[in-house]
Amino acid sequence: MRAERRLSSGCAPCSPRPRRVACAPLERPLSVILALFAALHLARAQGEAPAQRFIPRSLSPFQAAKAEWLLQHRLPCLGCHELGGEGGGIGPSLSELQRSRQPADVYAMIRDPQALVPGTIMPRVPMSPATLELIASFLVQREPTRPSPRASPRPGPPAAAAGPNGTQAGASAALYARSCAPCHGVRGEGDGYNAPNLPVRPTAHADQAYMSTRSDDALFDAISAGGYVMNRSNRMPPFGATLTRDQIWGLVRYLRTLCHCEGPAWSRDDR
Ligand code: HEC
Ligand code: HEC
Repeated sequence: MRAERRLSSGCAPCSPRPRRVACAPLERPLSVILALFAALHLARAQGEAPAQRFIPRSLSPFQAAKAEWLLQHRLPCLGCHELGGEGGGIGPSLSELQRSRQPADVYAMIRDPQALVPGTIMPRVPMSPATLELIASFLVQREPTRPSPRASPRPGPPAAAAGPNGTQAGASAALYARSCAPCHGVRGEGDGYNAPNLPVRPTAHADQAYMSTRSDDALFDAISAGGYVMNRSNRMPPFGATLTRDQIWGLVRYLRTLCHCEGPAWSRDDR
């Protein structure tokens, strides 16, 4: 698993610019490349520039429109980020990246958020290398606009995790408070501070009548694959590439404590 990740990362820098380096015929120098990659990784850990040499592609009007469409209708980014006056207030505004950030940092953050900012609630959003390059190129070259103020966390005591500490239930409650409550609300009432920034109301996980119609599997799939894949709002992010299966099942069980309910009988016939 680890080796596999390293290998694919070792090849990644050439994927945006395939003409310079070929990935395939590198059987023998592979160890050299891995060593180099490890060294660069170390350098980055010590606070130096990231390893990637991402060079933004210049985009045709059609490609720019496509990037905009993907951000608007398909990817979850605007659930958490403001761009051009629209979107969420959980993460920093993306409206001024051209001015404020290095392209390689933007690319690296989208490619693997946890590697750049360990512990961030930004999930890794699965996408093809071509889409990753398109979105990063678009964001870093887009003419900057003034970030518009977003509804942000209301002052008050931090949300207390509703479970005993040190247990799996406690861990799920804490995870929900951090990663889900900004949209879904601390008690799962669909009223998180970020809800007014969204075009669709986040599901009220405390709504017993509605949640009784959802099977555990459907909830698991929505958390794992995100809204777009489930034919729902793309503002609901996919967490399957960031959280473990156990963590996602823990969240499903936690949703059942918020609604004090179970899924429909047909979905529970194995009990
Ligand atoms: C669940 C919320 C969430 C989603 C969804 C999300 N992000 Fe983020 N993002 C964040 C947060 C929070 C940060 C700030 C890092 C931190 O401190 O945790 C961030 C940071 C970033 C940064 C660095 C910005 C800077 O100024 O340093 C970029 C670029 C970025 N995100 C792009 C994206 C893109 C593109 C997508 C969609 C593919 C996306 N994000 C999806 C929450 C999110
Ligand atoms: C950026 C805002 C945002 C964040 C963060 C977020 N959600 Fe959502 N979620 C939504 C929205 C909006 C919907 C409603 C989609 C729709 O109905 O079209 C939704 C829908 C869902 C659904 C689908 C419910 C159903 O009807 O089947 C589940 C389950 C869910 N969210 C769980 C979670 C969990 C668990 C987390 C944290 C790990 C989370 N969400 C984080 C915005 C968010």
